[in-house]
Amino acid sequence: MRARLVLLPVLVLLAACERTEVFEVTENDAETGRWYSSELLGQGQQVFSQNCASCHGEQAQGLEANWRQRLADGSLPPPPLNGTAHAWHHPLSVLVQVISDGGIALGGKMPAFDEILSEEQKRAAIAYFQSFWSDEIYQQWLQMGGVQ
Ligand code: HEC
Repeated sequence: MRARLVLLPVLVLLAACERTEVFEVTENDAETGRWYSSELLGQGQQVFSQNCASCHGEQAQGLEANWRQRLADGSLPPPPLNGTAHAWHHPLSVLVQVISDGGIALGGKMPAFDEILSEEQKRAAIAYFQSFWSDEIYQQWLQMGGVQ
């Protein structure tokens, strides 16, 4: 059990390295102060509401009181993405990868969005849930790889 928990982020990271995508993002948009524009954020709200909110909550707050507690079938519930769990440990490229691949192949429950969402829509969804992050969490994310 413990070994699998450690292995999962490593596998995700390895997968991310295989497909190197070059993102052209500004680190500091004049309006939002973040990497995304307010236009992308608006798009993200729609993408998130239609594709993600049923599991992660309308405001990315998660739906289970304790997202660390495994469900009866042994899988983990969808974690909050609003900065209170650990989505902020992953740089942008890894977040895109997680959304593309989902978690089913790794024994999880999240569907893959590779064929469903464009690259822009995936980044828009990320911008949306990041808009709930405090500036402190956002700064830590930047230091841990951030827009890379
Ligand atoms: C059917 C439910 C479901 C849907 C729909 C879903 N997710 Fe997930 N998501 C999960 C689960 C469950 C996990 C935990 C890993 C697993 O079990 O696959 C997860 C994990 C994640 C993670 C990793 C979080 C972390 O802390 O490392 C991100 C990021 C994420 N989801 C984003 C999204 C986005 C963006 C969408 C919409 C495009 C989405 N998810 C749609 C269930 C879902």
